[in-house]
Amino acid sequence: MRVFVTGATGLVGRALVPELIRHGHDVVGLARTIASRSMLHAMRAVACSGQGADVELLSDALSGVHAIVHLATGIPANEAAVEDEWPRKREVIVGMLANLLEASERSGVRTVIFPGFYGVYGDHGDEWVTEETPLAPDKASRPFAEAEELLLRSTEARRSIGVILRLGMVYAADALHTRGLLYGLRRGQIAIRGDGRMYWPQLHVEDAAQAIRLALERSPAGEIFNICDNEPVRQSELYRHLAAWAGGPPLPSDTGPLSPYLGSLNLSSLSLSVRMSNRKAKAKLGFKPRYPTYREGYRAIIEEWKREGTD
Ligand SMILES: NC(=O)c1ccc[n+]([C@@H]2O[C@H](COP(=O)([O-])OP(=O)(O)OC[C@H]3O[C@@H](n4cnc5c(N)ncnc54)[C@H](OP(=O)(O)O)[C@@H]3O)[C@@H](O)[C@H]2O)c1
Repeated sequence: MRVFVTGATGLVGRALVPELIRHGHDVVGLARTIASRSMLHAMRAVACSGQGADVELLSDALSGVHAIVHLATGIPANEAAVEDEWPRKREVIVGMLANLLEASERSGVRTVIFPGFYGVYGDHGDEWVTEETPLAPDKASRPFAEAEELLLRSTEARRSIGVILRLGMVYAADALHTRGLLYGLRRGQIAIRGDGRMYWPQLHVEDAAQAIRLALERSPAGEIFNICDNEPVRQSELYRHLAAWAGGPPLPSDTGPLSPYLGSLNLSSLSLSVRMSNRKAKAKLGFKPRYPTYREGYRAIIEEWKREGTD
């Protein structure tokens, strides 16, 4: 299958491109800079220059393509940037999807995968969250809910075959926020937030890539899947274990701001409790997380850094 990927140079994209190529697919990636083009070539993908705003250009780029994955996003780097940056970010998430849908109709591409964000559920305390749980998106996650609606409408009208994946909190060896979190915990500079009881759905980046590939290969039209590991974890438990593995001191129980260490993570989502179940993805997509819990996932990352001497 030839797959057109936006955001192929981002955190999830850098895991998805090799995953697709390993499974015999070809990738065309949208690149807005020379650096992005070079990265795509290095990953053995074809680079297509553009920012996803020109429908003509997108239609040409989709010639010979079988499916689209829309990963391009732009999460504001900090709270101060939110007011100014959200309209532009919405343009990337929703506006580019609308352009891709128009271009795909012109080019006859049917399958469109949208890997969105668990934050659309809002806060659900200790309840299990399935794909049936009502959504309560806040300002930060509203563009993701809008993009979902757009794709579902297009699928209901049989103009495309859309699949929505609600990704958990992605961590990776090459993610600045993962490195920042472990760095801060090791130095005793990160606190548990409030009572730390909120559940965070964790997802190793390689498992995010696996889920997107499965969604492409199976393409169940109009379906929505929660994608996370098998064990959503309370923030306090996660941080206590990570601090111990990173060789840090016991954690202070404080409401310290986390932002200096978490880089471009969407901060408002950190206060949400989303105990997300991956049962449907396992049953219908055949999703099998290689890192079933944060324990295997973070340990593998810490081991990798040790081997490289960058821990
Ligand atoms: N990371 C997480 O924890 C997480 C969790 C849940 C869901 N998700 C979702 O997964 C998806 C991918 O996230 P990510 O973390 O991989 O994102 P990311 O690392 O921030 O990467 C964003 C990508 O979008 C591209 N991009 C941004 N604006 C563009 C534009 N105008 N034209 C073309 N390309 C543009 C960037 O290209 P450049 O190389 O040019 O910068 C980059 O490849 C998003 O929908 C995100 O919401 C992520």
